[in-house]
Amino acid sequence: MDLIYLCCLLILSLSDVCRALDNGLALTPPMGWLSWERFACTVDCVVYPDACIGEKLILSQAHALIEKGLDKIGYDYVIIDDCWLADTRDNVTGELVPNPERFPNGMSYLVNVIHKLGVKFGIYGDMGSKTCGGYPGSWGHEQLDADTFAKWGVDYVKLDGCNIKLSDIASSYQLMGRSLNATKRHMVYSCSWPFYVWNAGLKINYTLLMDTCNLWRNYFDIQDSWSSVKRIIMFYAHNQDWMAALSGPGHWNDPDMILVGDFSLSKSQSEVQFGMWAMFSSPLILSVDMNNLADYALQIISNRDVIAVDQDSKGQQARMVYSSPDELWFVFKKELSDSSFAVAVLYLQDFANPHKYELLFNLINKTHSTFSVKDLFDGSVGNYTVGMSLFVNPNGIKLLKLTPLK
Ligand SMILES: *[C@@H]1O[C@H](CO)[C@@H](O)[C@H](O)[C@H]1NC(C)=O
Ligand SMILES: *[C@@H]1O[C@H](CO)[C@@H](O)[C@H](O)[C@H]1NC(C)=O
Ligand SMILES: *[C@@H]1O[C@H](CO)[C@@H](O)[C@H](O)[C@H]1NC(C)=O
Ligand SMILES: *[C@@H]1O[C@H](CO)[C@@H](O)[C@H](O)[C@H]1NC(C)=O
Ligand SMILES: *[C@@H]1O[C@H](CO)[C@@H](O)[C@H](O)[C@H]1NC(C)=O
Repeated sequence: MDLIYLCCLLILSLSDVCRALDNGLALTPPMGWLSWERFACTVDCVVYPDACIGEKLILSQAHALIEKGLDKIGYDYVIIDDCWLADTRDNVTGELVPNPERFPNGMSYLVNVIHKLGVKFGIYGDMGSKTCGGYPGSWGHEQLDADTFAKWGVDYVKLDGCNIKLSDIASSYQLMGRSLNATKRHMVYSCSWPFYVWNAGLKINYTLLMDTCNLWRNYFDIQDSWSSVKRIIMFYAHNQDWMAALSGPGHWNDPDMILVGDFSLSKSQSEVQFGMWAMFSSPLILSVDMNNLADYALQIISNRDVIAVDQDSKGQQARMVYSSPDELWFVFKKELSDSSFAVAVLYLQDFANPHKYELLFNLINKTHSTFSVKDLFDGSVGNYTVGMSLFVNPNGIKLLKLTPLK
């Protein structure tokens, strides 16, 4: 582990020593929309005509994403998750086939339409014998499935890890990676394998992981709740010593989808999720009904300053540099490629007023005492020497960009 950590600290200068998957993709964290958290495995189109997993849903979400201009600010992958498949493979060719009722024109057609809209298409599969939802998995069909995805024009493959023996999981994900590469079509490779291995209490070979996948899930699925968001942030904070070292162009930790605009988070909590995902250099994959997006939610996910923090070319994952003894205040720091710093101050108190916090700049960088500061959510700017006072909402965040002046 120490060796890998050291190796990855040196990744920029010694990239041939610490290899990473070299498919030229995901040089900044992928952005887009994914069906799972919001639409899950909804297959009953009679009861849920506008929410069942099918061509109609994917096209209407893609159209709404584009109408809102989100494709123009980076959200360029539309990704379908589990439950798109027919119950069985094609009896003649053995290929995966979409459910014929919900995808009446087949998958090539859908991908084509998505491409004509100017966005890219992502699909879901599973490394095991069946997907988590019980549909055909890729176990034993790796090259055939990779070829099918390539034939359809897929740009992004999210591969889940249900229904496979843990002892086979690493080698199988590698095999699928080689199969995707062999198609010659460049497809982002999103892996779920580290989560399954970690959840079983086993060790993950991170060198192998970085060699194999562009992004990977390492913790439980996000749920539509504030407690889920907090658990994920704390998992990242408490595991930062090894996790932060894995983050960089082409290879990202994935804390799962953005919930902003769904049912559970307040406006402040939504800013916390979006802001912290940007601090962590996380994929920004929305899972929300694009046709029912509140104004505040659109404003948060469209915040170009916050997106720029996420997409910073250095790809550093923020580290927690302070937590108060009462575990209410947390400060995270991320170094940006232009020598400035993104700083997040979190206040995880459940009641009362926006609370005052004195941010002393020596916590951020001891060689600088004067910074120009921009508040990335309210847009205000100012110059400060030594430190600054700020007020943070209960269960809220102040996300700042600090540019050294002296
Ligand atoms: C394959 O054959 C089975 C059994 O005859 C049938 O139930 C199923 O619908 C067929 N699947 C496809 C995708 O053609
Ligand atoms: C396949 O792998 C090679 C070597 O790592 C790389 O140069 C190439 O871009 C990859 N191709 C695709 C389609 O991913
Ligand atoms: C981890 O994977 C790398 C790259 O494939 C390999 O060289 C190394 O031996 C593996 N380490 C362990 C402990 O299995
Ligand atoms: C402080 O910032 C400078 C760049 O402005 C950087 O070179 C230095 O490494 C930073 N020091 C720490 C401890 O972050
Ligand atoms: C901050 O300082 C810079 C450099 O001295 C100056 O150009 C800028 O106008 C100042 N900004 C504010 C908001 O005072």
